[in-house]
Amino acid sequence: MSEILKREAAARAVELVQPGMRVGLGTGSTARHFVELLGERVRGGLDVVGVPTSEATRVQAEAEGIPLTTLDETPQLDLTVDGADEFDDRLRLIKGGGGALLREKIVAAASTRMVVIADASKRVAGLGRFPLPVEVVRFGLAASWVAVEKIANRFGSQGPVTLRRKGDEPFVTDSGHHILDIAFGAIAEPETLAEALSTVPGVVEHGLFIGLCSAAFLATDEGVVVVEPAAG
Ligand code: 5RP
Repeated sequence: MSEILKREAAARAVELVQPGMRVGLGTGSTARHFVELLGERVRGGLDVVGVPTSEATRVQAEAEGIPLTTLDETPQLDLTVDGADEFDDRLRLIKGGGGALLREKIVAAASTRMVVIADASKRVAGLGRFPLPVEVVRFGLAASWVAVEKIANRFGSQGPVTLRRKGDEPFVTDSGHHILDIAFGAIAEPETLAEALSTVPGVVEHGLFIGLCSAAFLATDEGVVVVEPAAG
């Protein structure tokens, strides 16, 4: 059922793509539907270029026949479509459940418009139920971990900060970093928290996406609802 809803949201987002657009291609199971549907349109003659937000998406997009470019060749994009782990009414997001947050944020920030596609389970009254991913360089991991823990405690985290693993080994991102997941439970002040995390030298990026998303296409049992950011 959930895959059907994800595909419906992706189908609405793919309608936004116009000929000649430069498109950021998100990562995850929902974005995967978007890339598939965009591939269909490309094979039908649509002229676009894409910038993938992960190696997994790059492999999928190549298989779909979507022409790809890089942000070095094409530093400004028209539209990025990506999934999210959580979003609130102001369209503040938590991303990085799939480990691609760094490239996802760089690509979203380079885009005139970022649209999130999701099923209704991703909409929350307040961020923080989903553990907040924080990408850290490998050098000095233990020191960065302590620093992130201090910030997590200061901001009222209800759970631990854990090193993400893949099997027995620490998870390694496409850019060669590790991820710490903070089990906040609830995040009272996302903006201030985002600023605090960015002050830790070993933190490359965190999964709070604030002021980047302009609309969410939310698939519900009653159809796809377009959520615009509430003032606040
Ligand atoms: C990857 C992400 C994904 O967009 C997020 O995890 C949502 O994934 P899915 O659509 O599979 O629920 O941030 O880093």
